Amino acid sequence: MNPLVESALNEQVQKEASSSQFYLAMASWAESNGLNGTAKFMYQHSDEERFHMLKLIHFINERGGKAIIPPVAQAPKEFKNLENVFELLLAHEISVTDSINNLVDICLQQKDYSTHNFVQWYVSEQLEEEALARTVLDKLRLIDGDKGGMYMFDRDLENASIGGAGQSTQQQ
Ligand code: FEO
Repeated sequence: MNPLVESALNEQVQKEASSSQFYLAMASWAESNGLNGTAKFMYQHSDEERFHMLKLIHFINERGGKAIIPPVAQAPKEFKNLENVFELLLAHEISVTDSINNLVDICLQQKDYSTHNFVQWYVSEQLEEEALARTVLDKLRLIDGDKGGMYMFDRDLENASIGGAGQSTQQQ
């Protein structure tokens, strides 16, 4: 495997692992604050990110590279409020999109077209995740802290599905 591509893929492994931890921290925060729908959504999202990480690990190893399992960094312990949680989620997804785009650039520079093809799955996934985060944030801003609205929001989120292309961990 091209060493520059391998290194960029391993950096992406680290990003997906840290996304999983980040959303796990959000899930736990939501659960401990009685926001059970949000907690369920975030636990699922955390699992999705772990699936994204595993998919990369398998790809690297199957192509003759060596996947590196990253250390676990301390995730945030507190969040200001629900809006803050989703603002952070959107900002995080935008940074992941940047890193996927960088990976696409490296594949093209190195003429690694099979990895380029593999990475397209992540390009689509990022489009969906960013769109979902924006929609959820728009709803929260409309509610503007109203207690009844927050109750409905949390209940609705329990049924929201994430990661259309990912379809959760069942595809592993
Ligand atoms: Fe796998 Fe949400 O980035």
